[in-house]
Amino acid sequence: MKNATLKFISTGIFISLTTAMSHSALLFSEHDKQVDALLAQMTLDEKIGQMVQVDSSALKDKADVQKYFLGSVLSGGSSDPATGNTAQDWLSLVTGFQNQALQTRLKIPLIYGIDAVHGHNNIDGATIFPHHIGMGATHDPKLVERAERVTAEEVAGTGIRWAFAPCITVPQDAHWGRTYEGYSDNTALVSELGAAATIGFQGGKLSAEPTSVLACAKHFIGDGGTTNGIDQGNMVCDEATLRKLFLPPYRAAIKAGVGSIMVSYSSWNGVKMHGNKYLLTDVLKNELGFAGFLVSDWAAIDQLSPNYKNDIEQSINAGLDMIMIPNGAGKPNNYIGFIYDLKALVAEGKVSPSRIDDAVRRILRIKFQLGLFESTATDPQLTAAIGSPEHRAVARECVRESLVLLKNENHVLPLSKKIKRLAVVGVAADDLGIQCGGWTIDWQGGRGNVTHGGTTILAAIRQTVSPETKITFSPDASDLKNADAIIAVVGERPYAEMKGDRTELNLSAADMALIAKAKTSGAPVVTILFSGRPLVLNSALTDSDAFVAAWLPGTEGLGVPDVLFGDFKFTGKSARNWPRSSDKSAKPLFPFGFGLTN
Ligand code: GLC
Repeated sequence: MKNATLKFISTGIFISLTTAMSHSALLFSEHDKQVDALLAQMTLDEKIGQMVQVDSSALKDKADVQKYFLGSVLSGGSSDPATGNTAQDWLSLVTGFQNQALQTRLKIPLIYGIDAVHGHNNIDGATIFPHHIGMGATHDPKLVERAERVTAEEVAGTGIRWAFAPCITVPQDAHWGRTYEGYSDNTALVSELGAAATIGFQGGKLSAEPTSVLACAKHFIGDGGTTNGIDQGNMVCDEATLRKLFLPPYRAAIKAGVGSIMVSYSSWNGVKMHGNKYLLTDVLKNELGFAGFLVSDWAAIDQLSPNYKNDIEQSINAGLDMIMIPNGAGKPNNYIGFIYDLKALVAEGKVSPSRIDDAVRRILRIKFQLGLFESTATDPQLTAAIGSPEHRAVARECVRESLVLLKNENHVLPLSKKIKRLAVVGVAADDLGIQCGGWTIDWQGGRGNVTHGGTTILAAIRQTVSPETKITFSPDASDLKNADAIIAVVGERPYAEMKGDRTELNLSAADMALIAKAKTSGAPVVTILFSGRPLVLNSALTDSDAFVAAWLPGTEGLGVPDVLFGDFKFTGKSARNWPRSSDKSAKPLFPFGFGLTN
């Protein structure tokens, strides 16, 4: 111990180690005695079971949780309960799996994980927040923390204590389908907001508090740096660049006490991240002192080689602690085969017992930290609060602060609430699915009324203007007559991950034509853009009198007219450089940090 300071506080002596031990290791060391005592009792089957995370849709027989001593279950973006999609359906699903785990010999509780990436987005009626690209435009770490605190409460309300968030990628190329999952192309902003989100999810330090939800910083490392923004692609750069652009958000998340980190599908200089021992063990665990556990991405180890047993050997020895397996019995590379192969690798001396013990120790430490051995019960008040007005008010505030005003000719904005005739055009004005984007109810999101409790832009405008205002709505801008102003809502249709990869960034011709048609009316045109990335705007910007980047705002559409009609000012600043054209070398049309105030 290099030096230690001894401090007396009212509740006893607190010795703070200021040695090389990282903040993270300190956070997780308090249960070491309990972990070691439990580990000493465990068989190899029970240990390997803890390292296995299976998708709920792959577990046709819940009893396999007990039979194979599984340590974790997840629900991927489209793995919903067979009974329905209400919070109660989810609570029953999770409880069913947990009860199986609690019937094992050592009664080691499950930790259940889900992609709560912009609210508890798989669950019908949950509060859906703006995606990270919008939260980045708020530049407001306190608000990000509050948003994830609400999300944690809704996640906990379904019996789940692990969110696969925050994504702390630093997307460098907006052609990437996951650009919107990143706060910014600016490393410092991502570091600040990622740490705030971690604290929000975990409730400060990870604890037995029922709403303390394990955060998962992802995807380590360089997922946003691949050539041409190709999802799961290859990042080509030297180590100094990797460390400068992509490592600081992980340092910040570890300092904030993040308990899990998910590894990226992508590669660095041709080496798959899931097999990179230098980065996973030497850098992340040893140099940065990360003391939580590393989880793989969805069947990501399968990409390492043509042989699954080799994939297991490579990934576990590289430093993976828990493997996400979406394949059920009868399918290739399923969880039963994984367990069989890993046991064989230990018997053959290809995976050491100490590596297994290190992985299991890291997982158990988190489960003790979360208080799961004491209780896995869910407070019904948390379940009842999912989608509550109080929660939605926080999301509405996020929407307001995320809006970026790119143009406001002749101060068209704010509009008057007493405007006489208002024409709203564009199908996106009345489509909650477009407004929420991907990772909403389903992996790829959807169209129309995808979830209960949300408010579209059109409905929000109707609730905001005076009763005397005559509002017309025409998706194709066919009804513009005598309008005093036109609000055109355009943008991308929902997508997630590789389905959103693009080779060009132009706003669609149909959207440009819609705005041009609106302009023929002679009335001022206010354009609202829903998108998961900045787009090349061309005539859409010149034909608009005012232009607002709304990103993917989620269910609380009321946040948009809050600002359009002047109850609140525009404060959002773009968290990304905005491309002038598809020429990547061209000077940005709007630089990082741009945003007009009205
Ligand atoms: C997906 C994503 C990851 C997500 C995981 C579980 O493929 O890459 O972000 O957490 O699978 O759904």
